[in-house]
Amino acid sequence: MIPAWVLDYPTGEETGEYLAIDLGGTNLRVVNVTLKGNNQFETKQSKYSLPEGIRTAEADELFKFMAECLKTFVDENFPSNLSEPIPLGFTFSYPASQDIIDEGILQRWTKGYDIHGVEGYDVVPMLTKALKELNVPIEVVALINDTTGTLVASTYTDKETRMGLIFGTGVNGAYYERCGDIPKLEGKLVDDISDNTPMAINCEYGSFDNEHAVLPRTKYDIRIDDESPRPGQQSFEKMISGYYMGEVLRMLILDLAEKKLIFGDNGYKQLQEPYVMDSSFPSLFDLDTSDELDNSKKKLQLLGVESTYEDRQALKELASFVGERAARLAVCGIAAICKKRNYKTAHCAADGSVYEKYPGFKERAARALRDIFQWSEKDDPIVIVHAEDGSGVGAAVIAALTQKRVNQGKSVGTKSKMESKVNK
Ligand code: BGC
Repeated sequence: MIPAWVLDYPTGEETGEYLAIDLGGTNLRVVNVTLKGNNQFETKQSKYSLPEGIRTAEADELFKFMAECLKTFVDENFPSNLSEPIPLGFTFSYPASQDIIDEGILQRWTKGYDIHGVEGYDVVPMLTKALKELNVPIEVVALINDTTGTLVASTYTDKETRMGLIFGTGVNGAYYERCGDIPKLEGKLVDDISDNTPMAINCEYGSFDNEHAVLPRTKYDIRIDDESPRPGQQSFEKMISGYYMGEVLRMLILDLAEKKLIFGDNGYKQLQEPYVMDSSFPSLFDLDTSDELDNSKKKLQLLGVESTYEDRQALKELASFVGERAARLAVCGIAAICKKRNYKTAHCAADGSVYEKYPGFKERAARALRDIFQWSEKDDPIVIVHAEDGSGVGAAVIAALTQKRVNQGKSVGTKSKMESKVNK
């Protein structure tokens, strides 16, 4: 549960031009956001493919790549000389501790990233240094988790928003807490923040139950964890997020194939390669409606596997276990926060590849929430809705809220951080 130092609700009247950068699983996105007030905005974005092997590169390479993409974007979109640096909201979708809004000390990499020399360090100076080296006129004003961005972007356009959620390569959620109810911050707050001041919290619930005290794990979950770059971390995420769903299914299928329960004497060599099945595999098998499950057949052939109709029926059922478990566990985070905050109605704004693309996920998730709360009304009072773009619009709105606070002389971090900022 990381305080994210967003200390205001957006009103929808924020204005200004901001840049946002978002390092995702397969590409880096740079967005120019113009907030127009009246809940309106315009965006212009470019995507840059991540270079091969960047997930395991050195820190310098990663930040240099980010700075280069920003430079290309600025050169293309701001050709004339700028009088002031452009404010940037830096979306960094990993667990990063924050004592002030423009810092983020990476606790640990997730989602298969394993870049040396970043864990335990503040990523903002790393990006700032790389930008300076290339003379890019940008100032990082806020570091933002994707869930916090989603929460704020969706609140900008819909006042009923209570949570920002990502169901994608990783899973996580953010919500607003009362500062007076955050034990971590006791005695650390500057006077201009009262008990009733809102504070966005990045829950990082992907690491729920790292102690393995609550959720039953299958032998496949245990193996995935043991063989991952960070065993013992992100336990919840490893059971349900897009990065791992294909791998859970692969292990299940491989187990059955080795026991000769599926595929008979047909080869399945490629299935032995870890992570060879991304989430498009369970996604396709799960709700395949083609004749004789022909689409699943073709998908398996991509991995050199020949299958019978019976094999594919079994795979369909296995994939549905993986998909159903993911959806049902995923909404526990929503239920927990709504119960804690005593929300009787809520719009929970969701984004991410699993939410967007995994067939049946939305319906299963809604059904699971209904089961948890045992609603009897016709319309669900707490609903998962499609989010506004968190890493673009959300980052921009947070940058705008931050600049406003700073201009008003209000704090955006703990007492000690604010003092050291003033003394600089
Ligand atoms: C990260 C979170 C992030 C989530 C969704 C997780 O792996 O720890 O910070 O919000 O993925 O991108």
